[in-house]
Amino acid sequence: MRAVDIISKKRHGEALSREEINFFIEGFVNGSIPDYQASALLMAVCCNGMDSWETVDLTLAMANSGDKVDLSRISGIKVDKHSTGGVGDTTTLITAPLVAACGVPVAKMSGRGLGHTGGTLDKLESIPGFKTDLSMEEFINAVESIGLAVIGQSKDLVPADKLLYELRDVTGTVDNIPLIASSIMSKKIASGSDAIVLDVKAGSGAFMRSVNDSFLLADAMVKIGVRAGRDVMAVITDMDQPLGMAVGNALEVKEAVEVLKNKRQGPLKHISIYLAANMLLTAKACSSLDEGLIMTSEALESGRGLNKLGEMIQRQGGDRDVLDDFSLLPGAEHIIPVKADAEGYISSIDAEKIGLCSLLTGAGRSKKEDDIDHAAGLIMHKRVGDPVHEGDILAELHINKLDMFEEASQMLRSGIHIRSARPKLKPLVMGMVTKHGIKRFDSEEQPI
Ligand code: URA
Ligand code: CA
Repeated sequence: MRAVDIISKKRHGEALSREEINFFIEGFVNGSIPDYQASALLMAVCCNGMDSWETVDLTLAMANSGDKVDLSRISGIKVDKHSTGGVGDTTTLITAPLVAACGVPVAKMSGRGLGHTGGTLDKLESIPGFKTDLSMEEFINAVESIGLAVIGQSKDLVPADKLLYELRDVTGTVDNIPLIASSIMSKKIASGSDAIVLDVKAGSGAFMRSVNDSFLLADAMVKIGVRAGRDVMAVITDMDQPLGMAVGNALEVKEAVEVLKNKRQGPLKHISIYLAANMLLTAKACSSLDEGLIMTSEALESGRGLNKLGEMIQRQGGDRDVLDDFSLLPGAEHIIPVKADAEGYISSIDAEKIGLCSLLTGAGRSKKEDDIDHAAGLIMHKRVGDPVHEGDILAELHINKLDMFEEASQMLRSGIHIRSARPKLKPLVMGMVTKHGIKRFDSEEQPI
């Protein structure tokens, strides 16, 4: 077999066989196939696509390219959740403890923030002492004893994805559904959970801006998961404005804790409960979504979810007292409001710009190597549809680097639009994809 023949076959729009895909991925990872041939194949895939069988074969070839996590020592069905990433999306810090509090083990590997989106690891590391680099042994022991652990992805998990992603990033081949689906699912499959709930975001702060593309991505990922023998489903949720009100690491931890204390209502709480209920259902811990919603709401209202988060913080070396005393979390030196200069209604919010504003305050990174300021970020005071008067606070910026305030506040303003007419509100959950197919929800039939 020769790499050049495989590239040319895809260039002519033919489907690749499993043997060809395995040969290519193995050769690329072991260095016998150079970057320029891998780049050419990626471009051919972007131009001519991959059918669903090729996408499954690619995913499994990638998942098999390095270490795999073996969770078999932990009894019961282990469940994982993945969000395609967004702004103010702190759901993992809420759903994972709720699900674990309902008796289903969660062994989660999370990522860091990049660009305008945040990452769970960075948020957790704003808790003093919290360790995200547990060894595999410590990770599995933690899940065995308290039912929950969240760590960073180990270096040797899916090396094929790491190498391919670096090439995609510099060859204009990132936004292709088979390539995104195989990248995400190879990591989920190698992470070892039996059941997986995918939260595919759609809108201005999401990787997939169009709702249709989000359904296509969700469908591709569910097909891969099912063919790989996992119980998997996806929900498609709105990312046309930040999900919670806080954007930034310590700020999002505080908001998640307040949700778990049942002190905050709103979309972050709703989506978190909805995701947790779907995780219970996918892990067969309940027999209907309604039952799952009751179980997770009860775990939240009773404080058992909060307690589980506390157990995890303690187990991973963090200071559990942060739950009762937010002054133990890093705080910014300056808290500066940004006020409205017009009146009307918030007609739309560009979530990407809000994420970029947070990055400018110091909360995010533009390059993988950048340091972040755990205290920095912003708190939104308005959501789409809210009335605004001139002088109302739109958001407050939490900032240590005062010289960045001007640019950050400009970015924030450019992302918040005020019009005189009241806008039509979008549904929070746009649909779901299971092994049985696609279901779309409109505003009247919201599942939560
Ligand atoms: N996230 C991933 O892990 N991979 C992609 O290709 C895109 C988003
Ligand atoms: Ca993420």
